[in-house]
Amino acid sequence: MAPSAVEVINAKRDGGRLTDEQIDWVLAGYTAGDVADEQMAALAMAILLNGMDAAEVARWTQAMIDSGEVLSLPDVGRPLVDKHSTGGVGDKITLPLAPLVAACGAAVPQLSGRGLGHTGGTLDKLESIPGWRAALSLDEIAAQLADVGAVICATTPTLAPADRKLYALRDVTGTVESIPLIASSIMSKKIAEGTGGLVLDVKVGSGAFMKTLPHARELAATMVEIGTAHGLATTALLTDMSVPLGRAVGNALEVAESVEVLRGGGPADVVELTVALAREMLALAGLTDVDPVEVLASGAAYPVWERMIAAQGGDPAAPLPMARHVVPVVAQTDGVLAQCDAMAVGIAAWRLGAGRARKEDTVQAAAGVRLLVDVGEQVSAGQPLLELHTDTPQALPGARAALAAGLVVADPGSGPAVRPPLLLDAVRP
Ligand code: URA
Repeated sequence: MAPSAVEVINAKRDGGRLTDEQIDWVLAGYTAGDVADEQMAALAMAILLNGMDAAEVARWTQAMIDSGEVLSLPDVGRPLVDKHSTGGVGDKITLPLAPLVAACGAAVPQLSGRGLGHTGGTLDKLESIPGWRAALSLDEIAAQLADVGAVICATTPTLAPADRKLYALRDVTGTVESIPLIASSIMSKKIAEGTGGLVLDVKVGSGAFMKTLPHARELAATMVEIGTAHGLATTALLTDMSVPLGRAVGNALEVAESVEVLRGGGPADVVELTVALAREMLALAGLTDVDPVEVLASGAAYPVWERMIAAQGGDPAAPLPMARHVVPVVAQTDGVLAQCDAMAVGIAAWRLGAGRARKEDTVQAAAGVRLLVDVGEQVSAGQPLLELHTDTPQALPGARAALAAGLVVADPGSGPAVRPPLLLDAVRP
């Protein structure tokens, strides 16, 4: 006899483990509309509170993959390798990374989503480029991979549809922050995408899902284990997200900063992380004799970027949108910038219009925050610390309020203020 939704919910609510049959049944039923949203919400909350063991997570992931199709990308003449970040503030790394890794000889099939809440989405960033289009057919993806070596496009609705539905439900039921649910959500999509290798960038800190290193390690280990069990070579870097990445937060602002990096310049932290992730990806692709530092510094990744953008209808030479209102936030006292909290900056950018509160909202291409001072730098009273960019000036007070506790100028005598190291740890099979 088939299980009932209430039985499955009760089993997890009471701290038990779900059987393979229960997992397959509940996810197939939810995808088909036979298990109701309120039942899945109750189950997701029971999972958040009581967890799942490794075998349950593996089965849950497989059932999510089985809810849709698995892409089989044709041989494009280069090894396929992808990267996924768990999401952070100013995290534009995919933009320079995909062309860089392609310039080094691999092919990057990056099927991405849009941002929700305080973290930006890769597609939202690229859509600030005039003409660029996110939706590609499977044939277009394969042709671009063979020709350019890098594709960043929208995920197809047929990949892990159970996750698409469940993620939207988790988002509004306080059940996003469950390690088994995050790990299975990310890995089901990446396994279904058909990449040959995967590097995970698991963010740690105030601007990330995982606020502490032990939680981030657990998430990374769970995902590496799932990937390995599915024959997908997977490694993870754990990286700091207590401070925004780079100096630009917001869609067009982040594209501009990515272009600086691709031209051999840009902020040191963005370069450091791009190169670290490229090394991991190239190792999985078996391309260890090329040095991504040299390739990036030479500017050789920039023409790949131009071709990648042009192949999707974008004009890489077109001016990016600029906000109608650019307003500084100034230091109130002399001192040292002791804190620039990632979450505070992410919420400020979101309130300025860079992000969306509901998935049907539109984003402002030009909105966001530009940081002018690094943590640890000396500042004087009245000196601009950052700029707020928006087309909707009524958003400015909300953005300022979000920054109030997150931007701290301290007395220089109160001890050294240093940014935490960017690369915190790695998890490999
Ligand atoms: N990103 C995903 O794709 N899924 C999650 O559950 C969290 C982040």
